[in-house]
Amino acid sequence: MTGRNDVHILNFIHPSVHAALEEEFGARRLWEAPNPALSLSDLAGSIRCLVVDGGPVDEELLAKLPRLEIVASYGVGVDRIDVAAAVRRGILVTNTPGVLDDEVADHAMGLLLATLREYLHADRHVRSGNWRAGDYRLTASLRGRAVGILGLGRIGKAIARRLDGFGIEIAYCGRDRQKDVPHEYFADVRRMAEKVDVLINVAPGGSGTRHLIDASVLEALGPHGVFINVGRGSTVDQAALVAALESGTIHAAGLDVFENEPHVPDDLKRLENVVLTPHMGAGTEVTRVAMGKLLLDNIADWSAGRRPRTAVSGKNVPA
Ligand code: 8YV
Repeated sequence: MTGRNDVHILNFIHPSVHAALEEEFGARRLWEAPNPALSLSDLAGSIRCLVVDGGPVDEELLAKLPRLEIVASYGVGVDRIDVAAAVRRGILVTNTPGVLDDEVADHAMGLLLATLREYLHADRHVRSGNWRAGDYRLTASLRGRAVGILGLGRIGKAIARRLDGFGIEIAYCGRDRQKDVPHEYFADVRRMAEKVDVLINVAPGGSGTRHLIDASVLEALGPHGVFINVGRGSTVDQAALVAALESGTIHAAGLDVFENEPHVPDDLKRLENVVLTPHMGAGTEVTRVAMGKLLLDNIADWSAGRRPRTAVSGKNVPA
């Protein structure tokens, strides 16, 4: 059972989620306090459940919350949560997998087509009246390309299903070869980049993935190559990506995630061969509501003494 002071929301999530958390668990909004850091330390002794929008939750924060039992995160990625530190302290971490896969996969396809077919420039061609002076230039095509997916998890598989429908050859790269996956497997992302003309990053970030996509991978992708990122910005050496786009080492990129969100370097914004979206892969009303429902279900499980349905890991659970 939860008491009135047990559940706290660290940062803004979604109004319907705040309302439900308040109604069902008497949750408090920490980010709205005049001095959030002070409120956090005032309330530290009572917080049993911390609700976060992906993070940040580090060891220092965990150490300040002696009664904390669960970190419930809104989002599938836990790269901004120190899960290992939480496990050491017997604190549960939950996320919201599954409910956003199709949305993010749809966005990846949208970014891919917008990048190849230059929709943003073409839109300007129509609006500016330039069409009257001549047709828009011929663009690159998805036809005949092979696509490599870095990170064939739930979202990666949803992207692969869509690409199948487009009649595209698919390869994938990840820690392990997966059973019952018909696509060619590469253990090394550079090797895969040599073989494909589109690289889609879905890797979730976190340890071991920082700057996995570096200058050598982009060079392997080649001058015809297109890079799409719906995973995490930290997986890419962003300076190397800017250089590769500037020099024509790769053809173009479509990016939904960045190294230091919400800051996007001017060098990247200046480029014409890149489509930029503000980490909105899962950002639709219907999907954000579904994520909120799963977040609440996890907290309800914990509150009733059950193992939360999408716990990432943790020991503090009833058998
Ligand atoms: C979330 C995400 O929408 O789920 C994730 O890991 O990156 C996004 O899809 C976002 O974190 C919620 O703000």
